[in-house]
Amino acid sequence: MPMKVILVAGARPNFMKIAPLWSEIKRFPSYFEPVMLHTGQHYDYEMSKVFFEDLNLPEPDYFLGVGSGTHGEQTARIMIEFEKVLQEENPNLVVVFGDVNSTLGCSITAKKLLIPVAHVEAGLRSFDMTMPEEINRKVTDAISDILFTPSKDGDENLIYEGVERKKIHFVGNIMIDSLISILERIDQSYEHRVLEKFGLQKGNFVLVTLHRPSNVDNKNNLWNMMNFLNALSFRMPILFPVHPRTKNNINGFEKGFASNGAFKIVEPLRYKEFVALEKCPKFVLTDSGGIQEETTYFNVPCLTLRSNTERPITIIQGTNELVSVGNIQEKVELILSRNWKEGRMPELWDGKTAKRIVDLLKGMEI
Ligand code: UD1
Repeated sequence: MPMKVILVAGARPNFMKIAPLWSEIKRFPSYFEPVMLHTGQHYDYEMSKVFFEDLNLPEPDYFLGVGSGTHGEQTARIMIEFEKVLQEENPNLVVVFGDVNSTLGCSITAKKLLIPVAHVEAGLRSFDMTMPEEINRKVTDAISDILFTPSKDGDENLIYEGVERKKIHFVGNIMIDSLISILERIDQSYEHRVLEKFGLQKGNFVLVTLHRPSNVDNKNNLWNMMNFLNALSFRMPILFPVHPRTKNNINGFEKGFASNGAFKIVEPLRYKEFVALEKCPKFVLTDSGGIQEETTYFNVPCLTLRSNTERPITIIQGTNELVSVGNIQEKVELILSRNWKEGRMPELWDGKTAKRIVDLLKGMEI
Protein backbone atom coordinates (compact mmCIF):
# COMPACT_ATOMS: atom_id res chain seq x y z
CA MET A 1 0.00 0.00 0.00
CA PRO A 2 1.39 3.46 -0.86
CA MET A 3 2.00 5.84 2.03
CA LYS A 4 -0.72 8.51 2.19
CA VAL A 5 1.03 11.85 2.76
CA ILE A 6 -0.70 15.20 3.28
CA LEU A 7 1.52 18.14 2.28
CA VAL A 8 0.44 21.38 3.95
CA ALA A 9 0.90 24.93 2.67
CA GLY A 10 -0.74 28.10 3.85
CA ALA A 11 1.23 31.27 3.28
CA ARG A 12 3.33 32.70 0.47
CA PRO A 13 6.75 31.40 1.57
CA ASN A 14 5.33 27.87 1.85
CA PHE A 15 4.44 27.62 -1.80
CA MET A 16 8.05 27.60 -3.03
CA LYS A 17 8.82 24.90 -0.47
CA ILE A 18 5.91 22.58 -1.22
CA ALA A 19 6.35 22.69 -5.03
CA PRO A 20 9.60 20.72 -5.44
CA LEU A 21 8.52 18.07 -2.94
CA TRP A 22 5.13 17.73 -4.58
CA SER A 23 6.60 17.13 -8.02
CA GLU A 24 9.23 14.70 -6.72
CA ILE A 25 6.83 12.68 -4.57
CA LYS A 26 4.35 12.40 -7.47
CA ARG A 27 6.99 10.49 -9.43
CA PHE A 28 6.64 7.46 -7.15
CA PRO A 29 2.98 6.44 -7.07
CA SER A 30 3.80 2.97 -5.83
CA TYR A 31 5.40 4.47 -2.71
CA PHE A 32 3.25 7.56 -2.09
CA GLU A 33 -0.32 8.76 -2.35
CA PRO A 34 0.16 12.52 -1.92
CA VAL A 35 -2.63 14.92 -0.96
CA MET A 36 -2.12 18.68 -1.21
CA LEU A 37 -3.77 20.94 1.31
CA HIS A 38 -3.86 24.76 1.35
CA THR A 39 -5.11 26.27 4.59
CA GLY A 40 -6.01 29.59 2.95
CA GLN A 41 -3.92 31.63 5.42
CA HIS A 42 -2.95 33.66 2.35
CA TYR A 43 -5.80 34.03 -0.09
CA ASP A 44 -5.26 37.09 -2.35
CA TYR A 45 -4.47 36.30 -5.97
CA GLU A 46 -1.02 37.96 -5.68
CA MET A 47 -0.23 36.21 -2.41
CA SER A 48 -1.38 32.73 -3.35
CA LYS A 49 -2.94 31.70 -6.68
CA VAL A 50 -0.27 33.29 -8.87
CA PHE A 51 2.38 31.26 -7.04
CA PHE A 52 0.54 28.05 -7.85
CA GLU A 53 0.63 29.11 -11.49
CA ASP A 54 4.33 30.02 -11.53
CA LEU A 55 5.31 26.89 -9.66
CA ASN A 56 3.20 24.61 -11.88
CA LEU A 57 1.26 23.42 -8.85
CA PRO A 58 -2.19 21.90 -9.41
CA GLU A 59 -5.30 23.07 -7.55
CA PRO A 60 -4.97 21.79 -3.98
CA ASP A 61 -7.06 18.77 -3.03
CA TYR A 62 -8.26 20.71 0.01
CA PHE A 63 -8.60 24.47 0.50
CA LEU A 64 -9.58 25.29 4.08
CA GLY A 65 -10.27 29.00 3.50
CA VAL A 66 -9.21 30.04 7.00
CA GLY A 67 -8.24 33.62 6.03
CA SER A 68 -6.80 36.29 8.33
CA GLY A 69 -7.36 37.11 11.99
CA THR A 70 -5.49 37.32 15.25
CA HIS A 71 -2.93 34.57 15.83
CA GLY A 72 -5.34 32.74 18.12
CA GLU A 73 -8.24 32.99 15.71
CA GLN A 74 -6.24 32.03 12.65
CA THR A 75 -4.46 29.09 14.28
CA ALA A 76 -7.70 27.86 15.85
CA ARG A 77 -9.53 27.92 12.52
CA ILE A 78 -6.65 26.02 10.90
CA MET A 79 -6.85 23.36 13.62
CA ILE A 80 -10.64 22.98 13.48
CA GLU A 81 -10.69 22.58 9.70
CA PHE A 82 -7.55 20.44 9.45
CA GLU A 83 -8.84 17.99 12.05
CA LYS A 84 -11.86 17.25 9.83
CA VAL A 85 -9.57 16.50 6.89
CA LEU A 86 -7.37 14.22 8.97
CA GLN A 87 -10.38 12.29 10.21
CA GLU A 88 -11.57 11.82 6.65
CA GLU A 89 -8.19 10.99 5.07
CA ASN A 90 -6.42 9.24 7.94
CA PRO A 91 -2.96 9.79 6.37
CA ASN A 92 0.24 7.96 7.29
CA LEU A 93 2.21 11.21 7.41
CA VAL A 94 1.69 14.99 7.44
CA VAL A 95 4.45 17.18 6.00
CA VAL A 96 4.60 20.82 7.12
CA PHE A 97 6.95 23.54 5.87
CA GLY A 98 8.62 26.61 7.33
CA ASP A 99 7.38 28.60 10.29
CA VAL A 100 3.97 30.13 9.58
CA ASN A 101 0.80 29.70 11.61
CA SER A 102 -0.35 26.94 9.25
CA THR A 103 2.82 24.98 10.08
CA LEU A 104 2.05 25.20 13.78
CA GLY A 105 -1.70 24.56 13.61
CA CYS A 106 -1.43 21.53 11.35
CA SER A 107 1.45 19.88 13.18
CA ILE A 108 -0.29 20.11 16.55
CA THR A 109 -3.57 18.80 15.13
CA ALA A 110 -1.91 15.82 13.44
CA LYS A 111 0.12 14.85 16.49
CA LYS A 112 -2.97 14.91 18.74
CA LEU A 113 -4.49 12.35 16.38
CA LEU A 114 -1.27 10.31 16.65
CA ILE A 115 -0.35 10.97 13.02
CA PRO A 116 3.41 11.33 12.38
CA VAL A 117 4.66 14.75 11.28
CA ALA A 118 7.66 15.68 9.14
CA HIS A 119 8.93 19.27 9.25
CA VAL A 120 10.77 20.66 6.24
CA GLU A 121 13.07 23.58 7.19
CA ALA A 122 13.48 22.41 10.77
CA GLY A 123 15.95 23.70 13.32
CA LEU A 124 16.19 27.37 12.35
CA ARG A 125 16.22 29.70 15.36
CA SER A 126 16.29 33.47 15.77
CA PHE A 127 16.33 33.07 19.58
CA ASP A 128 13.76 35.85 19.65
CA MET A 129 10.54 34.72 21.28
CA THR A 130 8.81 37.99 20.37
CA MET A 131 8.64 36.68 16.79
CA PRO A 132 5.53 34.58 16.18
CA GLU A 133 7.55 32.45 13.76
CA GLU A 134 10.05 31.50 16.49
CA ILE A 135 7.22 30.07 18.59
CA ASN A 136 5.92 28.22 15.53
CA ARG A 137 9.37 26.77 14.81
CA LYS A 138 10.09 25.63 18.35
CA VAL A 139 6.71 23.99 18.93
CA THR A 140 6.67 22.29 15.52
CA ASP A 141 10.20 20.94 15.95
CA ALA A 142 9.52 19.75 19.50
CA ILE A 143 6.64 17.52 18.37
CA SER A 144 7.73 16.47 14.86
CA ASP A 145 8.89 12.92 14.18
CA ILE A 146 11.11 13.68 11.18
CA LEU A 147 13.12 16.90 10.97
CA PHE A 148 14.59 17.94 7.64
CA THR A 149 17.14 20.74 8.12
CA PRO A 150 18.36 23.23 5.48
CA SER A 151 21.75 23.91 7.07
CA LYS A 152 23.99 22.40 9.74
CA ASP A 153 23.17 25.11 12.29
CA GLY A 154 19.65 23.65 12.23
CA ASP A 155 21.01 20.26 13.33
CA GLU A 156 23.00 21.89 16.12
CA ASN A 157 20.00 23.82 17.43
CA LEU A 158 17.86 20.70 17.48
CA ILE A 159 20.50 18.61 19.23
CA TYR A 160 20.94 21.38 21.80
CA GLU A 161 17.19 21.28 22.44
CA GLY A 162 17.32 17.55 23.06
CA VAL A 163 15.91 16.21 19.79
CA GLU A 164 17.10 12.66 19.12
CA ARG A 165 19.79 12.60 16.43
CA LYS A 166 18.08 9.83 14.48
CA LYS A 167 15.10 12.13 13.78
CA ILE A 168 17.29 14.83 12.19
CA HIS A 169 18.20 14.77 8.50
CA PHE A 170 20.34 17.45 6.89
CA VAL A 171 18.89 17.65 3.38
CA GLY A 172 19.67 21.21 2.23
CA ASN A 173 17.49 24.15 1.31
CA ILE A 174 14.31 23.28 -0.57
CA MET A 175 13.65 26.92 -1.54
CA ILE A 176 16.73 26.71 -3.73
CA ASP A 177 15.16 23.78 -5.62
CA SER A 178 12.33 26.09 -6.65
CA LEU A 179 14.68 28.93 -7.39
CA ILE A 180 16.81 26.82 -9.72
CA SER A 181 13.80 25.51 -11.54
CA ILE A 182 12.20 28.95 -12.09
CA LEU A 183 15.57 30.30 -13.29
CA GLU A 184 15.42 27.79 -16.13
CA ARG A 185 12.28 29.60 -17.27
CA ILE A 186 13.71 33.13 -17.01
CA ASP A 187 15.64 33.98 -20.16
CA GLN A 188 17.25 37.29 -21.08
CA SER A 189 14.24 38.57 -22.93
CA TYR A 190 11.92 37.87 -19.97
CA GLU A 191 14.38 39.62 -17.63
CA HIS A 192 14.53 42.56 -20.00
CA ARG A 193 10.73 42.80 -20.19
CA VAL A 194 10.36 42.81 -16.40
CA LEU A 195 13.05 45.47 -15.97
CA GLU A 196 11.36 47.56 -18.64
CA LYS A 197 7.92 47.14 -17.07
CA PHE A 198 9.19 48.86 -13.92
CA GLY A 199 11.50 51.30 -15.72
CA LEU A 200 14.64 49.79 -14.17
CA GLN A 201 18.16 49.03 -15.35
CA LYS A 202 20.10 45.91 -14.49
CA GLY A 203 22.45 46.50 -11.54
CA ASN A 204 21.16 49.97 -10.89
CA PHE A 205 18.17 49.73 -8.58
CA VAL A 206 17.26 48.72 -5.05
CA LEU A 207 14.69 46.00 -4.40
CA VAL A 208 12.80 46.36 -1.10
CA THR A 209 10.39 44.08 0.77
CA LEU A 210 9.22 44.74 4.34
CA HIS A 211 6.36 43.02 6.11
CA ARG A 212 7.43 41.94 9.62
CA PRO A 213 5.17 43.29 12.37
CA SER A 214 8.28 44.71 14.12
CA ASN A 215 8.99 46.91 11.08
CA VAL A 216 5.58 47.76 9.73
CA ASP A 217 3.07 47.61 12.59
CA ASN A 218 4.75 50.55 14.34
CA LYS A 219 3.78 53.60 12.30
CA ASN A 220 6.80 55.62 13.45
CA ASN A 221 9.31 52.96 12.38
CA LEU A 222 7.55 52.53 9.07
CA TRP A 223 7.39 56.27 8.45
CA ASN A 224 11.12 56.66 9.22
CA MET A 225 12.03 53.86 6.86
CA MET A 226 9.78 55.18 4.10
CA ASN A 227 11.43 58.59 4.44
CA PHE A 228 14.87 57.01 4.27
CA LEU A 229 13.92 55.14 1.12
CA ASN A 230 12.38 58.22 -0.42
CA ALA A 231 15.66 60.10 0.10
CA LEU A 232 17.67 57.16 -1.28
CA SER A 233 15.51 57.10 -4.41
CA PHE A 234 17.05 60.41 -5.45
CA ARG A 235 20.33 58.48 -5.87
CA MET A 236 19.05 55.20 -7.24
CA PRO A 237 15.59 53.93 -8.27
CA ILE A 238 13.77 51.80 -5.69
CA LEU A 239 11.16 49.14 -6.32
CA PHE A 240 9.05 48.23 -3.30
CA PRO A 241 6.45 45.49 -3.88
CA VAL A 242 4.19 45.90 -0.88
CA HIS A 243 2.79 43.04 1.21
CA PRO A 244 -0.87 43.50 2.27
CA ARG A 245 0.10 43.92 5.92
CA THR A 246 2.46 46.78 4.99
CA LYS A 247 -0.06 48.26 2.59
CA ASN A 248 -2.70 48.43 5.31
CA ASN A 249 -0.25 50.33 7.50
CA ILE A 250 1.14 52.67 4.86
CA ASN A 251 -2.42 53.62 4.10
CA GLY A 252 -1.50 56.17 1.49
CA PHE A 253 0.86 58.29 3.59
CA GLU A 254 3.61 57.98 0.99
CA LYS A 255 1.55 60.27 -1.22
CA GLY A 256 2.93 63.15 0.85
CA PHE A 257 6.50 62.45 -0.35
CA ALA A 258 8.29 64.94 -2.53
CA SER A 259 9.17 62.18 -4.94
CA ASN A 260 11.08 62.19 -8.19
CA GLY A 261 9.07 59.17 -9.31
CA ALA A 262 11.98 56.83 -8.64
CA PHE A 263 10.44 55.37 -5.47
CA LYS A 264 8.04 52.88 -6.97
CA ILE A 265 5.56 51.24 -4.62
CA VAL A 266 3.76 48.38 -6.36
CA GLU A 267 1.53 45.38 -5.58
CA PRO A 268 3.22 42.08 -4.57
CA LEU A 269 4.99 40.55 -7.58
CA ARG A 270 4.53 37.09 -8.96
CA TYR A 271 7.36 34.67 -8.16
CA LYS A 272 8.81 34.64 -11.66
CA GLU A 273 8.93 38.44 -11.89
CA PHE A 274 10.37 38.81 -8.43
CA VAL A 275 13.17 36.32 -9.11
CA ALA A 276 13.99 38.02 -12.43
CA LEU A 277 14.54 41.26 -10.51
CA GLU A 278 16.21 39.72 -7.47
CA LYS A 279 19.00 38.40 -9.72
CA CYS A 280 20.25 41.82 -10.67
CA PRO A 281 19.67 44.76 -8.30
CA LYS A 282 22.46 46.82 -6.72
CA PHE A 283 21.21 45.44 -3.42
CA VAL A 284 18.14 44.15 -1.62
CA LEU A 285 16.64 45.53 1.59
CA THR A 286 14.30 43.06 3.27
CA ASP A 287 13.00 41.50 6.45
CA SER A 288 11.95 38.24 4.78
CA GLY A 289 13.59 34.91 5.60
CA GLY A 290 13.52 33.45 2.11
CA ILE A 291 14.95 36.55 0.45
CA GLN A 292 17.99 36.43 2.73
CA GLU A 293 18.61 32.97 1.30
CA GLU A 294 17.88 33.77 -2.33
CA THR A 295 20.24 36.77 -2.33
CA THR A 296 22.96 34.54 -0.91
CA TYR A 297 22.32 32.18 -3.81
CA PHE A 298 22.62 35.09 -6.29
CA ASN A 299 25.60 36.65 -4.50
CA VAL A 300 23.62 39.91 -4.36
CA PRO A 301 24.22 42.19 -1.32
CA CYS A 302 21.34 41.93 1.15
CA LEU A 303 20.50 44.23 4.06
CA THR A 304 18.10 42.67 6.53
CA LEU A 305 16.20 45.14 8.66
CA ARG A 306 16.04 43.02 11.79
CA SER A 307 17.98 42.65 15.01
CA ASN A 308 18.42 38.90 14.50
CA THR A 309 18.00 36.18 11.91
CA GLU A 310 17.12 32.50 12.06
CA ARG A 311 19.31 32.11 8.97
CA PRO A 312 22.80 33.01 10.26
CA ILE A 313 24.42 31.05 7.43
CA THR A 314 23.38 33.87 5.06
CA ILE A 315 25.60 36.21 7.11
CA ILE A 316 28.46 33.83 7.87
CA GLN A 317 28.73 32.38 4.36
CA GLY A 318 26.45 34.58 2.28
CA THR A 319 25.97 38.21 1.33
CA ASN A 320 23.60 39.21 4.12
CA GLU A 321 24.05 41.72 6.98
CA LEU A 322 21.61 42.80 9.66
CA VAL A 323 20.86 46.52 9.74
CA SER A 324 18.96 48.97 11.90
CA VAL A 325 17.60 52.43 11.23
CA GLY A 326 20.76 53.66 12.99
CA ASN A 327 23.36 52.06 10.69
CA ILE A 328 21.57 51.47 7.41
CA GLN A 329 23.01 54.58 5.76
CA GLU A 330 26.56 53.46 6.51
CA LYS A 331 25.89 49.96 5.09
CA VAL A 332 24.31 51.39 1.96
CA GLU A 333 27.41 53.55 1.38
CA LEU A 334 29.60 50.43 1.65
CA ILE A 335 27.57 48.70 -1.03
CA LEU A 336 27.47 51.73 -3.31
CA SER A 337 31.25 52.08 -3.03
CA ARG A 338 31.61 48.37 -3.91
CA ASN A 339 32.99 47.42 -0.53
CA TRP A 340 30.65 44.52 0.15
CA LYS A 341 31.68 40.99 1.01
CA GLU A 342 31.63 38.14 -1.51
CA GLY A 343 29.47 35.22 -0.49
CA ARG A 344 29.84 31.52 -1.03
CA MET A 345 27.18 28.88 -1.54
CA PRO A 346 26.12 27.01 1.60
CA GLU A 347 26.36 23.23 1.56
CA LEU A 348 23.51 21.36 -0.21
CA TRP A 349 21.85 24.45 -1.64
CA ASP A 350 22.01 22.60 -4.93
CA GLY A 351 18.46 22.04 -6.16
CA LYS A 352 18.37 18.40 -5.03
CA THR A 353 16.78 18.75 -1.61
CA ALA A 354 13.37 17.37 -2.60
CA LYS A 355 15.05 14.31 -4.07
CA ARG A 356 16.99 13.73 -0.84
CA ILE A 357 13.78 14.03 1.20
CA VAL A 358 11.88 11.58 -1.01
CA ASP A 359 14.79 9.11 -0.99
CA LEU A 360 14.80 9.20 2.81
CA LEU A 361 11.01 8.84 3.08
CA LYS A 362 11.06 5.85 0.71
CA GLY A 363 13.37 4.05 3.09
CA MET A 364 11.40 4.82 6.26
CA GLU A 365 8.90 2.60 8.05
CA ILE A 366 6.06 4.99 8.89
C1 UD1 B 1 2.77 35.44 7.30
C2 UD1 B 1 3.71 34.65 8.20
C3 UD1 B 1 5.14 35.17 8.02
C4 UD1 B 1 5.55 35.18 6.56
C5 UD1 B 1 4.53 35.98 5.79
C6 UD1 B 1 4.89 36.02 4.32
C7 UD1 B 1 2.77 33.86 10.32
C8 UD1 B 1 2.80 34.03 11.76
N1 UD1 B 1 3.37 34.80 9.59
O1 UD1 B 1 2.77 36.78 7.77
O2 UD1 B 1 6.02 34.31 8.72
O3 UD1 B 1 6.83 35.75 6.45
O4 UD1 B 1 3.24 35.38 5.97
O5 UD1 B 1 3.99 36.74 3.59
O6 UD1 B 1 2.25 32.86 9.84
N2 UD1 B 1 -3.64 39.69 3.96
C9 UD1 B 1 -4.24 39.96 2.76
N3 UD1 B 1 -4.24 38.98 1.81
C10 UD1 B 1 -3.69 37.77 2.01
C11 UD1 B 1 -3.09 37.50 3.24
C12 UD1 B 1 -3.06 38.46 4.20
O7 UD1 B 1 -4.73 41.05 2.53
O8 UD1 B 1 -3.73 36.93 1.09
C13 UD1 B 1 -3.56 40.76 4.99
C14 UD1 B 1 -4.58 40.67 6.05
O9 UD1 B 1 -4.97 41.97 6.36
C15 UD1 B 1 -3.83 40.09 7.24
C16 UD1 B 1 -2.42 40.58 7.01
O10 UD1 B 1 -2.28 40.69 5.59
O11 UD1 B 1 -4.38 40.48 8.44
C17 UD1 B 1 -1.34 39.68 7.53
O12 UD1 B 1 -1.51 38.33 7.09
P1 UD1 B 1 -1.10 37.08 8.03
O13 UD1 B 1 -1.31 35.81 7.27
O14 UD1 B 1 -1.77 37.22 9.34
O15 UD1 B 1 0.44 37.29 8.29
P2 UD1 B 1 1.63 37.81 7.37
O16 UD1 B 1 2.04 39.14 7.83
O17 UD1 B 1 1.28 37.65 5.93
